[in-house]
Amino acid sequence: MKNILITGGTRGLGLEYARYLSKKGYNVGLTDISEDACKVYKEAKSINHILSEIESNGSKVWCEFADLTKRKEAEEVVENFINHFEKIDGVITSAGGDISGNDPDASGGKAENNSFFISFSEHENIFQRNYYTCLNTLRAVVPYMQEQKFGKIVTVSSVNAAFGVEKETTYSVAKSSILQLTRSLAKELRKDGINVNCIMPGPTKTGRFLSTLKGRNPHDLAGINSKAKLDRVALPEDISPVVEFLLSENSDFVSGEVIRIDGGLFPQPI
Ligand SMILES: NC(=O)c1ccc[n+]([C@@H]2O[C@H](COP(=O)([O-])OP(=O)(O)OC[C@H]3O[C@@H](n4cnc5c(N)ncnc54)[C@H](O)[C@@H]3O)[C@@H](O)[C@H]2O)c1
Repeated sequence: MKNILITGGTRGLGLEYARYLSKKGYNVGLTDISEDACKVYKEAKSINHILSEIESNGSKVWCEFADLTKRKEAEEVVENFINHFEKIDGVITSAGGDISGNDPDASGGKAENNSFFISFSEHENIFQRNYYTCLNTLRAVVPYMQEQKFGKIVTVSSVNAAFGVEKETTYSVAKSSILQLTRSLAKELRKDGINVNCIMPGPTKTGRFLSTLKGRNPHDLAGINSKAKLDRVALPEDISPVVEFLLSENSDFVSGEVIRIDGGLFPQPI
């Protein structure tokens, strides 16, 4: 079975990937900032509930908590993942999100005063949370994949990376930096047979997304409960099959690619 590391894996889209992949025959290693992060938006009762659910799908599951903005912690997580599973077939860097709000376990929520004029430390936090969690994880993972001569990397950007976004300045900057990280790394790792691709979700109905409705535009609000095929807010289940494609043999000759998953909401070149 393939072993996949998922950062931000106990909540929101990360948790959805874990659930989906475990039903498709992958083992999953989850890492997140704290044991309580999974409870913040009531997407899971506890880590133990998540672990038993995934095991009941027939997969091996492993979990460790770390702040991935800290390089040393990212290195330890990856080393412990390898010690546990012996090899790493893929990684999904889902940890991220916009400004933190007041709850330390809710990293990635959105405070009401989100704007260009948030404090410099918040700008830095957002960049760290979205770019450095990914960079630190990949710096730790890639040497193992190079040694194995295989591996699939899926990074997570956002449609916000493609245009100017009012009140989400540093989030959109950080998410666009993920695009260039993906492309540059894909080029560098061609010789090693390692695929590096990126997904770019549009608005997606996770717990975090639902907690930010006050600041959302009318189109997002109208699309939340719509049953339309395309003209609606995405469900987490819309994103997982694309991620699985990028982890599978079906994408063996695809690298350095960015796949926008938004039902055609922003069909401009990336
Ligand atoms: N939901 C959307 O509309 C949407 C759209 C586009 C992109 N995204 C991106 O998808 C990813 C998941 O989003 P989500 O909506 O599920 O949000 P979320 O807040 O539920 O998930 C983010 C996860 O990252 C973890 N995290 C945050 N800081 C961390 C740190 N320093 N170290 C380790 N883990 C940390 C959080 O605890 C959480 O589990 C994020 O990168 C987000 O930017 C989401």
